[in-house]
Amino acid sequence: MKIAVVGAGYVGLVTAACLAELGNDVMCIDKDHGRVALLQAGGVPIYEPGLDDWVQRNQHAGRLRFGTAMAPAVTHAELIFIAVGTPPQEDGSADLQHVLAVAQHIGQHLNGFKVVVNKSTVPVGTARQVERVLHEAQQTRGTCVHEVAVVSNPEFLKEGAAIHDFMHPDRIVIGLPEGATGDRARTLLARLYAPFNRHHERTVWMDVASAELTKYASNAMLAMRISFMNEVALLADAVGADIDAVRRGVGADSRIGPSFLYAGTGYGGSCFPKDTRALAHSAAGHGLRMRLVEATEAVNAAQKQVLVQQVCGRFGGDLRGLRFGIWGLAFKPNTNDMREAPSRTVIAELLARGAELQVHDPVATSEARRALSQDLGRPVAEIDSLRFVDEPLDALLAVDALLVLTEWKCFHHPDFAAMAQHMRAPIIFDGRNLYDPAQLQALGFVYQGIGRRNQAASRARVSPQAETHRRVAHPG
Ligand code: UDX
Repeated sequence: MKIAVVGAGYVGLVTAACLAELGNDVMCIDKDHGRVALLQAGGVPIYEPGLDDWVQRNQHAGRLRFGTAMAPAVTHAELIFIAVGTPPQEDGSADLQHVLAVAQHIGQHLNGFKVVVNKSTVPVGTARQVERVLHEAQQTRGTCVHEVAVVSNPEFLKEGAAIHDFMHPDRIVIGLPEGATGDRARTLLARLYAPFNRHHERTVWMDVASAELTKYASNAMLAMRISFMNEVALLADAVGADIDAVRRGVGADSRIGPSFLYAGTGYGGSCFPKDTRALAHSAAGHGLRMRLVEATEAVNAAQKQVLVQQVCGRFGGDLRGLRFGIWGLAFKPNTNDMREAPSRTVIAELLARGAELQVHDPVATSEARRALSQDLGRPVAEIDSLRFVDEPLDALLAVDALLVLTEWKCFHHPDFAAMAQHMRAPIIFDGRNLYDPAQLQALGFVYQGIGRRNQAASRARVSPQAETHRRVAHPG
C-alpha cells in the first residue's frame, strides 16, 4: 500500500520502517532538513536498538524514502500517518500546534480520498479538530473538497523495544469516524494490518474518541501500578517486608499480572509523566477531577527523592566532602532518552547538598550532558563536582557510595570484589533493586534497595572511612 508518514521522530521513524518492512511503499517526511539529510545518507538520528538496520534495509529495497516536501507525500499516499510531537504546555495540556499545522499542510495538497491516521498522543476531540482543519484548508485552496477519514490509531510501543512492540502488538486500537468514510477507512486499515491478524484478531475497532482516550487510560493505568508499588515499597521498608517477594506474590494473580509492578526511583520518559498530566488536565476541562491520576503523578515526584533521602539518612543532609558514583542516567535501559529521568532530580539534589559525583551511562552521556546543563543552569563542563566517566568502575573510584539509577544489562552482574576495591566504602543505594540484599551483605556491602527491608541498613552508622574523609575535607 502507498503510505506517507509525517514526522521522522521516534514514533514516525519506527512506524515508517516497520510498515516498509511489511512490504508497503512508504514516504516519511519531516520539516527538519538536517534530520532528513541524515536519514537519506543512511544515518538514524535517535538511539533505538535495531532501528538503523531496519531503516537502511528498507531504503535499499526502495520501500522507504525520506523527504521534506509534503505535496509528493500526500499525492503518493492512500494512508497518511501523523506522527509529530505533542509536547506538554505549562499547564500540563498537550500542545497540538504541530498536529494541526501538519493537518493544514495535508489539506492543501489533497488530490482525492485519503485516510489520515493520527498516531500522535492527543486529547479526546483532536481528530475532530484535524478534520475541521483539513476541510478548511481545502476550502481556502478553492478547489473541490475531497473526503477524508480521520482515524485514531494510538501507538503503544516502548522505547528500547520499539521494533519488537510494533511487529508483535498485543492489540491494534483503531478509532473510526461514523458513516461511509469510516467504512472505507476500515477496509484500508484492515488490509494494512492484516499481517498482524493472521492467527489471532488483534485489532480493536471503536469510535475515534474512545481510541484517543484508550491511549491515555493505558498509560495512566501503567503509571498508577508503578506509583502504587512504589508506595507499597515504602511501607515494606517500614514493616520489614521485601517488595520483591510482595511483587512476585501480587503479580502471580492472573487478574493482576506480573508487568509494571517494579518499585524503583520513579518513572520517567516522554509518555507517562506527560500523558498523566494531560489526562488530568483534560478531565479538569470537563469539570472532573481524576484523583487517582493526580495522586499517581504526586507519588512519582516524591519517589524521585527517595534515594536522596536514603543518602541523607545515612550521611546527613550536608554532603560536602563526600563523593558518590552513579550508574545509569537514561530514564530506562536501551535508550538515550533523558526526558523526566529520575537521575536529573537525584543529581541536582546531591550537587545542591555539596556532594561530588562521578557518573556513568553506557549510552546516554551526550543527552545527559545537555539535559543536566539545562537543569543546572550552566554547562556541565564547568561543574568540577560532576564528572562523566566512560567505564562503570571509574565511577566508583574512592566513592563513599554507589547509586544505581538505571537497570542497564551491564550493571546486572558486576564484579563486586573489584567494586569494593575501588570504593572508599562498600555502600550501594540500589534504585532499581538489581541486587540480592543477602548476597551483598555476605560480600561485606551495606545495601539499600527500594522496599527491601532497608531499616537495618538505614540505621547503620556512617562508615568510619567516610567520617574520617569528611573530617579531613571539612574540619570543623
Ligand atoms: C511507555 C508505555 O509502556 C508505552 O506503551 C507507551 O507507548 C509510551 O510509554 P516507555 O515510556 O518507552 O513506554 O517506557 P516503559 O518501559 O513503559 O517505562 C516507563 C517508565 O516506567 C520508566 O521510567 C521505567 O523505569 C518505569 N517503570 C516501568 C518502573 O519504574 N517500574 C515498572 O515496573 C515498569
